[in-house]
Amino acid sequence: MRCVVLTSVSLVAALLLLALPSGELSPRHCCAGGRWQRSETENNTVSSKSSESKMTSVEWATAPSAQKDLHVPPLQELADVLSRGLPENFELASAEVAPCPDLTRPPYNLAASGLCGNAELVELGGPPYLMPLVRRDKVYDLGALLRHLGRDPALLAGAGAGPWPHVGVNCEGIVNLSVRGGVVEQGTRIVTVEGGGATYRVRRLPANETRSALLGNYLLSDGAPGQVLKVTAEKRTGPANFITAIREALQKHYGDRVVGLGGMFVLREGRARFHVMPDFSATPMTSEEDLNRWLKFYEMRSPLTHVGTLVTGDMGLDLRLQHFHGWGEHGDGGHYHYDTTPDAARYEGYFVPAARVLRLDAPVETHTMGRD
Ligand SMILES: *[C@@H]1O[C@H](CO)[C@@H](O)[C@H](O)[C@H]1NC(C)=O
Ligand SMILES: *[C@@H]1O[C@H](CO)[C@@H](O)[C@H](O)[C@H]1NC(C)=O
Ligand SMILES: *[C@@H]1O[C@H](CO)[C@@H](O)[C@H](O)[C@H]1NC(C)=O
Repeated sequence: MRCVVLTSVSLVAALLLLALPSGELSPRHCCAGGRWQRSETENNTVSSKSSESKMTSVEWATAPSAQKDLHVPPLQELADVLSRGLPENFELASAEVAPCPDLTRPPYNLAASGLCGNAELVELGGPPYLMPLVRRDKVYDLGALLRHLGRDPALLAGAGAGPWPHVGVNCEGIVNLSVRGGVVEQGTRIVTVEGGGATYRVRRLPANETRSALLGNYLLSDGAPGQVLKVTAEKRTGPANFITAIREALQKHYGDRVVGLGGMFVLREGRARFHVMPDFSATPMTSEEDLNRWLKFYEMRSPLTHVGTLVTGDMGLDLRLQHFHGWGEHGDGGHYHYDTTPDAARYEGYFVPAARVLRLDAPVETHTMGRD
């Protein structure tokens, strides 16, 4: 039975591949010849081209795994808490229970129509696999993960590191993958730094490339329509970004009862500060300053669709409290920090509370750097 399913998966994947463009380039950010380049500091990267594509992925059956239940308040209560809390950071804000719009449509553009059904958060690896020095063995096959967890239909969406073995360099991953009847719909985008940091390039992964690497924060659900938490915010007046504002409002109300949300938001107007990871550092990064010198920062343009997760506490699982990556049709994409045009900022988000956190392949030796 399993073989039959797998065969049809690869067949469909092969057919899909034929139908897909090999990549997506924004004219503005396309580098010369579409080739990626490495700056001098990224010298140690490509050890042997041939071994990269064959890089074996972490085995899910034996990878360290832990899970904890989250507190799941009723949607209306969450909406009330946010309606009270968000005005601390936004002049106009609303939170309500609403039917999820069809998320496969613009400007949402997800691989499944909704966020609902058996929602949980999945955190893979962590920043200790990136710094001080990269752990190249931390390659994660997300398609295999869904099969391992027996999740079908499923939507896996969120922020992670892209599959460096696929492009030969470290990259951001805007993960957006669904599976239905054994067939994977791979809508994940990756972003690479180009020209030693001068610019960046967004491309879509082919249907048969379901790997990611190093770290990731994902919402895992059935991808079904249903009632969700709709949050809008305009005109930022406080110091917190959209996600921090939500997380802190929830944390303040729920205290030790840890709440986790997964979902997506669109920055409809304004611009935002993003980073894109360049290729792995050849020298150990041992401080937040080292990390910020290594990362490449850019101001990106709306509309930007973001996917990711937030939790109000760590639960002793070494969790990253929030992590969103965003992408736009115009060719921008990367890791969201905050909007740079507070007056113009206009956010619209859809979230679901998760029932539990699944913590996979957590670093044994950890640190608190790189969680911003
Ligand atoms: C990059 O690698 C080349 C070849 O191994 C070496 O000659 C060069 O010194 C290296 N540059 C840096 C900045 O490490
Ligand atoms: C997500 O996947 C869908 C379906 O493959 C695709 O149309 C969409 O552009 C993707 N969205 C993002 C944000 O990458
Ligand atoms: C995906 O398919 C292409 C073309 O058939 C192949 O070259 C590549 O190795 C495949 N990638 C993976 C990860 O299986």
